[in-house]
Amino acid sequence: MENILILHGGAGGSLEVQNKNSEALRKIGKDASKMNTVEEIVIEAVRLMENDTRFNAGTGSVIRVDGSVQMDAAVMSGNRFASVISIENVKNPILVARDVLNKSPHSILSGDGAIRFARKLGHDPYDPRTERTMEVYRKMKEALDKNSQDETARYSTFRKYADLYSDTVGAIARKDGNFAAAISTGGVLPMLRGRVGDCPLPGCGIYAGDKGAVAVSGNGEEIIRRMLSLSVYLEIGKKPLQEILDTHISNFNSPTGIIAVSESEYSIVTNAYMATAVVDLL
Ligand code: GLY
Repeated sequence: MENILILHGGAGGSLEVQNKNSEALRKIGKDASKMNTVEEIVIEAVRLMENDTRFNAGTGSVIRVDGSVQMDAAVMSGNRFASVISIENVKNPILVARDVLNKSPHSILSGDGAIRFARKLGHDPYDPRTERTMEVYRKMKEALDKNSQDETARYSTFRKYADLYSDTVGAIARKDGNFAAAISTGGVLPMLRGRVGDCPLPGCGIYAGDKGAVAVSGNGEEIIRRMLSLSVYLEIGKKPLQEILDTHISNFNSPTGIIAVSESEYSIVTNAYMATAVVDLL
């Protein structure tokens, strides 16, 4: 199989970019394909998606119930993994995850520690909110505040706000026998401060090893329970990739997407709208 990069813009939502064979993602993929290593390629693809305000990652990330924006991002390739959890006020969470990978002795940094680390490494303060995310936040808050049910019921009732947004963005690639994956997200709606989804947890939202790479999108709580990306990865080589992904996606009722690549195949499945692009690498 040729060297290949696959991108997705998140399952769910009703954005104009939510088309199969998205032109926006194809352009991002082409630009990212100029990088050298498989790891640099997926990181660059995710960085560019974070900078596109239409996606729920980096600039344009959803706002939590308390008004904060806490973002997660992760990168994995071979035996290397790093992520940031609930990072705030940075432009590109995926670049902070890259710095955790290359410039720290740790695999995961979260919250205040992740922010301090980012500042030390030169990631300047940055507000990732947009007019659009603030308008959605205002509507969500108004609806939540009006509702007098207990907290859990309120959040279930207003789960519909999740439909306003796509989910995690992701990129996976195979180059010269090496695999890598990178993902980034603002999370889901509505969401409490401190809530952690699947994205920064290895084996949940992301997995890459010597057999392939997997990135998933959807409701973090459900994905974590199923350790979705590791479950897919462990089946690579035992059945056709499409069959593996079809079986796993059938377990989900909420908007979910999976992209995966192996030595000989790649596959994309979703039960919702999900922008995707497949780009050949040199
Ligand atoms: N899949 C993103 C999240 O649940 O946070």
